[in-house]
Amino acid sequence: MDKKWWMESVGYQIYPKSFYDSNNDGIGDLIGITEKLTYLKDLGINLLWIGPFYDSPMDDNGYDVRNFYQVDQRFGTLDDAKTLIKTAHEFGIKVILDFVLNHTSDEHPWFIESRKSKDNPYRDYYIWHEGKMKDGKRVEPTNWGSFFGGSAWCFDEPSNSYYMKIFSDKMPDLNWRNPKVREEMINIGEFWLDVGADGFRIDAVSHLDRAPLEDIHDKKHKYPLDWHRFSNLPKVHDYLQELNEKLFKPHNALTIGEVGGQATIENALKYASFDANELSMVFNFDHNWCNNLNEVVDPKKLKVDVIQLRAVFKKWQDAFKEKGWLPLNWLNHDQPRLMSHYGHYKYPKASGKMLATVIHMMRGTPFIYQGEEIGMTNYPFQDVQDFDDQSSVANYRYQLEHVSDNPVYALKKASLKSRDNGRTPMQWDKSSAAGFTKGIPWFHVNPNYKKINVENSLKDPDSLWHHYQKLIDLRKNSQYHEVITYGELDFIDLENKDCLSYTRLRGDQTLLVINSFSQYDVMFDLTQYNILEVVLNNYKKTRIKNGMIFLKPFESVVLEVKVKA
Ligand code: NOJ
Repeated sequence: MDKKWWMESVGYQIYPKSFYDSNNDGIGDLIGITEKLTYLKDLGINLLWIGPFYDSPMDDNGYDVRNFYQVDQRFGTLDDAKTLIKTAHEFGIKVILDFVLNHTSDEHPWFIESRKSKDNPYRDYYIWHEGKMKDGKRVEPTNWGSFFGGSAWCFDEPSNSYYMKIFSDKMPDLNWRNPKVREEMINIGEFWLDVGADGFRIDAVSHLDRAPLEDIHDKKHKYPLDWHRFSNLPKVHDYLQELNEKLFKPHNALTIGEVGGQATIENALKYASFDANELSMVFNFDHNWCNNLNEVVDPKKLKVDVIQLRAVFKKWQDAFKEKGWLPLNWLNHDQPRLMSHYGHYKYPKASGKMLATVIHMMRGTPFIYQGEEIGMTNYPFQDVQDFDDQSSVANYRYQLEHVSDNPVYALKKASLKSRDNGRTPMQWDKSSAAGFTKGIPWFHVNPNYKKINVENSLKDPDSLWHHYQKLIDLRKNSQYHEVITYGELDFIDLENKDCLSYTRLRGDQTLLVINSFSQYDVMFDLTQYNILEVVLNNYKKTRIKNGMIFLKPFESVVLEVKVKA
């Protein structure tokens, strides 16, 4: 395996709209990110993934791009982007940008042209269809549902046809079968790499092709959502090989593809094994939903299924062991907050630290999502009007239509999963709007900001923030650097319902990582190990006696051990 710089990196994801507002218009911006680079440097990260900041009507907070070459004026200017990247580089921090390939905004000039007439030169940049006749009426070409609810097709009056859009009506899908589209996207990528970016997180990359246009058999739903109709199809790999050849490889760019659509391991390896010639890594989401979220209404009843979680991590880690490299992240801007989703409300500090240890001691490149390091939590939504995200509103409606007609229930269910939880402004201090802005914030600030904020976290040497800092320092700078970064990972005690544990092995060094997900005291058998060193613990005291370790609620321990002969 060739070592790469990004294997030795620790990443941090920024959702620009909610990170830090430097000009007090209530919206986070690029200068705001630059101003907080010292904060990020102190935390220890050396890789930033910055969400889209291109010119956009903001139907989906910037994932609906109107002009790929321009910075949205709400976020700043091209010069601000250049300064941000340059300053980050001076701090030793690399920067990857979000590259949105699957769709544009419906206000993008290509789409404006495309919808003008059937013979417009841009017509074929998008996916158009006449629709089909059903019971004497013209209807959508297929009954496919979109991710944001409703049909995956939208009827366009001016050109009297349907266009495909697997996200919102305002995000028409690009037609990747058209070589001109691929050329345009290569030029765009080229532009940002020339500006100084070190690579890309590639949005919705698994969706660049579609299956034959046939209806899904489903009697229950008008527009059933079947990811497989537009995910991980063979042509996507051809497109990525072309992008790699013409764009990524010549620039030595780091590329992390977002592969939703329940990508199989086989597919994931096609995207990102060392010899794939497509992407450097892929983000997957299999570990995001290993709790009882679908069964509960009360967030306090959420519980992680350790067996399922371990199986998912094991599946990915085993498959990529010698063949590739994985990014390691819990959740991003598309999911609820880690603390509320997988942590425990009675033990926020212990469970937060334990969760951090789980990820940061694995093989791969860890990513922290903004606010995770201070334990930010879900927002207490009181009304459907509180949602900004259209998929949260769609989920609320779905609950009302298909599950229960009780609006309180529907709101609770939609809140548990809402992407808006992760998008409330970053909580910097206890001043108004949590120090995110001196103006009126674009989105609700979590009312717990006086307690949960960066200022408090930095003051408390025992805070979650300092635990993250320790984990990063251990990985990057300690005598355990090699074993944590490159060591072989093996999950152990595979039937254990409380503890998720694994070993890391490199040369004559072995680390044993034990993470309790239980809110009760539990024991863990250490008789087969000689304990050399307690490397890290989220409690002050480590209690080992007669070959057993006694773990407090959500205790997490990293031990240097020797396996007994
Ligand atoms: C994935 C992004 O992470 C999400 O926020 C966005 O809504 C969709 N792709 C569409 O771009």
